[in-house]
Amino acid sequence: MADEDFAQTVADILGLVEDELMEATVSQYSFVTEAAQHVAAAGGKRFRPALVATAAHLGTGFELDSVISAALVMELTHVASLYHDDVMDEADLRRGVTSANQRYGNSTAILVGDFLFARASVEVAKLGPAYVDLQARTFAELVEGQMAETAGPEPGEDPIEHHLKVLAGKTASLIRASALFGGMVGGASEQTLDALGRFGFEIGMVFQLSDDLIDIVSETTGKTPGTDLREGIPTLPTLLLGSSSAASDRELAELIAAGLDDDADLSRALALLRASSVIDQTRAEINRRAEVARSYLAPLPEGAAKEALDRLCDEVVTRSA
Ligand code: IPE
Ligand code: IPE
Ligand code: MG
Ligand code: MG
Repeated sequence: MADEDFAQTVADILGLVEDELMEATVSQYSFVTEAAQHVAAAGGKRFRPALVATAAHLGTGFELDSVISAALVMELTHVASLYHDDVMDEADLRRGVTSANQRYGNSTAILVGDFLFARASVEVAKLGPAYVDLQARTFAELVEGQMAETAGPEPGEDPIEHHLKVLAGKTASLIRASALFGGMVGGASEQTLDALGRFGFEIGMVFQLSDDLIDIVSETTGKTPGTDLREGIPTLPTLLLGSSSAASDRELAELIAAGLDDDADLSRALALLRASSVIDQTRAEINRRAEVARSYLAPLPEGAAKEALDRLCDEVVTRSA
C-alpha cells in the first residue's frame, strides 16, 4: 500500500474510534457524561489509537471491529489516567480546556477516571482473556509508576534510574500495550509481537522524555508550561542538574529545592532551566533512545506500516525540538 493510502486507512479507523469513544463515555446520568466527555472530547493526539491501527497492519489481517475495540480500550485507559493524573499534579489545564479537577472538583475527577476505566474493561472483555490480561497488567504498571513518582527514590537508589523506572511504568507501559494490541488484533507473528513490544516500550520512553522537555520549552501544549517544576516533579533535565557544577545550575537547583510556589521564582527557574546545558543533554538522550526504538523495527515485515513506525521515531523527537 502507498504511504498516502496507508495514512488514509489509519485516519479512517481513527474516525470510527472517535465515534465509539463518544458512545463509550455516555452514562445514564447527563452530568457524568458531561464530565467524562469534557476531557475525552477535548482533542488529544490519539497517539495510542494510531499506534494500534498502524501495528494492526503488520500481520495476517484484521477485523475492523477488533481494531476499533483495541484502540478504544487504549484511549479510554489513557484518558482515565489523565483525570487521575491532573488531580495528583493539581493541573488546571488539559487538552486546552480547564482540567476536570479544576472544573468539577477532585472527587468527581477521580470517579470519572474510574468510570472511564470501567468502560475500558467492558470493551476489552469483548476482545478476550489475553487482552484483559495485558490491559490489567499494564494498568497496574501505570499506577505503580504514578505512585513511585510520588514516593520518590528509595534510600540509596539512583534518582535517575528511579525516574526512568517511573517513566517506564506511567507512560511506556501503555504505549507498549498499544503496539502489542495492534499486533495481536492484526494476527502478527511471535517475532513481530516481540519486536512491537520492544519498540512500543522504547518509543513510549521517548514520548514521555519529549513531553517533559516540552513542559519546559514550549508554550503551546494545551497544558500549563512549567507544571512539573511548580509541582516539584523531577524530570530528566532537573535530575541532570545534580551532576552540573555550573554556577547558574547550582542557583537553579537551590531555587527548585526551596520550592517554586512564588510566580517570580518559577519564571526565574524556567528561564535558568531553558538556558542550561541539561536541555541539550536531555535532547541527546531522547535522540539516542529514538534510534534504539528504530533498531527494534528491523524484524518487522516491510511495508507502509513499518515505514509509518519508522517516521514515528522522528516525529516523537521533533515534537520537542
Ligand atoms: C499525556 O499524554 C500524558 C503523557 C503520557 C505524557 P498525551 O501527550 O498522549 O496526551 P493527549 O492524549 O495528546 O492529550
Ligand atoms: C503522564 O503524567 C502519565 C499519566 C498520565 C499516567 P504527566 O503528569 O507526566 O503528564 P502530563 O504532563 O500531565 O500530561
Ligand atoms: Mg501531569
Ligand atoms: Mg503526573
